[in-house]
Amino acid sequence: MAGLAAELRVGWTAGMIMDLWKYFAIGHEHHLFCNPVSEAKVDELIGLLALPDEARVLDIACGKAEFSVRTARRWNCSMVGVDISPYFVADARAKVEKAGLEDAIEIVESDGSEYSGKPSSFDAAVCLGASWIWGGLEGTLLALSSWAKPGGLVVVGEPFWRTAPSRDHLEAAGLTESSFSTHQGNAQTGLGLGLGLLHAVVANEDDWDRYEAYQWYAAELYGLRNPDDPDVPELMANVRKRRDHYLQWGRNEIGWAVYLFMKDPVLPAA
Ligand SMILES: C[S@@+](CC[C@H](N)C(=O)[O-])C[C@H]1O[C@@H](n2cnc3c(N)ncnc32)[C@H](O)[C@@H]1O
Repeated sequence: MAGLAAELRVGWTAGMIMDLWKYFAIGHEHHLFCNPVSEAKVDELIGLLALPDEARVLDIACGKAEFSVRTARRWNCSMVGVDISPYFVADARAKVEKAGLEDAIEIVESDGSEYSGKPSSFDAAVCLGASWIWGGLEGTLLALSSWAKPGGLVVVGEPFWRTAPSRDHLEAAGLTESSFSTHQGNAQTGLGLGLGLLHAVVANEDDWDRYEAYQWYAAELYGLRNPDDPDVPELMANVRKRRDHYLQWGRNEIGWAVYLFMKDPVLPAA
């Protein structure tokens, strides 16, 4: 499976009765980053941001604020993290407080599509793994670009087809070939909008395996420890279906990358 993006885009969890945010919170209990790229790769990317002093960074769909905390530790910047999930917002605020970064990081509980930050006011605008908020990658790049200053950064995490998807996979997961582009296609989407492409980090199989398997682990343990929770049967059915799709198809067919773009690059994008 492709992670939250695929689920939300194709309504994989649309018929779910249990609270969607509770479902994601349980499955991601053991994740620091709720996306498949390894911590080391995200750290490397944060180092490449090369933010100016007192930079302002916006992180829409910030999850548990791991990216915000690491960025604020690495650079002298202030961050605004926005997330819709009350579970992740609570985790994010606790993490920021524990890190002693309350003065540097503000966490806002809101739908990212309703965030009304000042246009062209951020040195970097980030969304790792929630491009359904703006209807896909292009809409996400346009939204993030509107908040980035000229010469500022636009950082987006997005799935891609590693190989042509099998018909069985598409049918079972409710995906279509157009659910994702390729890695090159994702890069081209940004370039086509006039963004400069500075870098990309790609999840490898080990990264994906860890991201997926920690969800099985978290759900199985939750089920064992909370047998009286009426949500457990639905939780387990969904997580195990996702697990089976991943093992059968997703592991080979879907990739995930974080793209580092620049708004209004000095050299024309190509
Ligand atoms: C794949 S996770 C990524 C989290 C974080 N960016 C990271 O990499 O750890 C997707 C995140 O999007 C959030 N989300 C989903 N829909 C959203 C929306 N409409 N507005 C804001 N956040 C949303 C979820 O709560 C979740 O934290």
